[in-house]
Amino acid sequence: MTKPTEREVLEALRGVKDPELGMDIVSMGMIRDLSVRDGEVSFTLELTTPACPFNAQIEKMARSAVEGVPGVRSVNMRVTARVRQGWGMRPVPSEIPGIKNVVAVGSGKGGVGKTTVAANLAIALSETGAAVGILDADIYGSSLTRFIRSYRFEARGKGKISPAEGPLGLKMMSMGLVVTDDTPIIWRGPLVGGAVRQMLLEVDWGELDYLIVDLPPGTGDAPLTLAQTIPITGAIIVTTPQQASLDIAIKALRMFQKLGVEILGIVENMSYYICPGCGRKEYIFGKGGGARSAEDIGVPLLAEIPLMPILRENSDEGIPIIVSHPESEAAESFRSLARRVAAALSVLAVRRGAQ
Ligand SMILES: Nc1ncnc2c1ncn2[C@@H]1O[C@H](COP(=O)(O)OP(=O)(O)O)[C@@H](O)[C@H]1O
Ligand SMILES: [Mg+2]
Repeated sequence: MTKPTEREVLEALRGVKDPELGMDIVSMGMIRDLSVRDGEVSFTLELTTPACPFNAQIEKMARSAVEGVPGVRSVNMRVTARVRQGWGMRPVPSEIPGIKNVVAVGSGKGGVGKTTVAANLAIALSETGAAVGILDADIYGSSLTRFIRSYRFEARGKGKISPAEGPLGLKMMSMGLVVTDDTPIIWRGPLVGGAVRQMLLEVDWGELDYLIVDLPPGTGDAPLTLAQTIPITGAIIVTTPQQASLDIAIKALRMFQKLGVEILGIVENMSYYICPGCGRKEYIFGKGGGARSAEDIGVPLLAEIPLMPILRENSDEGIPIIVSHPESEAAESFRSLARRVAAALSVLAVRRGAQ
């Protein structure tokens, strides 16, 4: 009779995927203390959160995968749950020297204003006197350089890659600065992760209080890999008020939570339209959707940003609204967002320090 090896058992377990993330439970680090002796298999299945609705299903699938390995006589599976805190599921080798907070801006889908929020948040934070950088990690839909084009970023020097630097000392790094033609970039997640890690670690950011990262949208390969390979202090999810947009934003949010990324809150963009004539607020996509979703999942609603045609026109010209119309309601809501993000990060730092 053949005796199964640890490798065979792990291979079988690799066939079990977390239904929500689509990742296998071995890569997710859920299998602990595996021992295989004379056909007797024993291991601990460490679930990522006790609250996951799929736990029972994962348990069942893991058990039957191991039972299916030829030569297995008994399976002793202990089940535990541990919520991953901090720097993502896999240990990240080191925090980035000199960078105090990495804030990822994500979304369920493209076109909801992720880059707009990232750019204006970065500028609002630098207005407070903080040292801020912004990293365009949306390799596929890289648009940051266009957005803040007229913010006059100039790449400095050679040697260790210098980020571009704009007014208020805001630093920026983007694939858009490296890849200059219009060829679409079709990279798989690991390559994206590698490129972004490089932009994080090999760029001379200097001392930063906040580094804002414009993530690729969605719950696919690229944002998933990034959430695991870069040390994210906290994430913000941008959505628009429509139900379809909210649903997919929540999916993205839960994905980050599962990977141990702290969610700072939701930003609802294009929340309402201010009638230019009478100044009345029109909730053209429905009112309060962002607030309800935030409450449902127990995260703060950080801001409601108005829909303003001028905001789009300015972005198209490469001037963020907070610079072109500093007194506008949108600019004010970005400043209020910046204050709330900064406050949430301070609370986090205290909480982590106390751990
Ligand atoms: N609040 C807003 N009011 C008006 N236009 C907006 C607003 N937010 C974003 N836009 C416009 O919508 C488009 C998509 O925004 P963008 O930030 O590129 O989204 P994403 O990065 O999520 O793909 C851009 O043309 C942008 O100028
Ligand atoms: Mg974008």
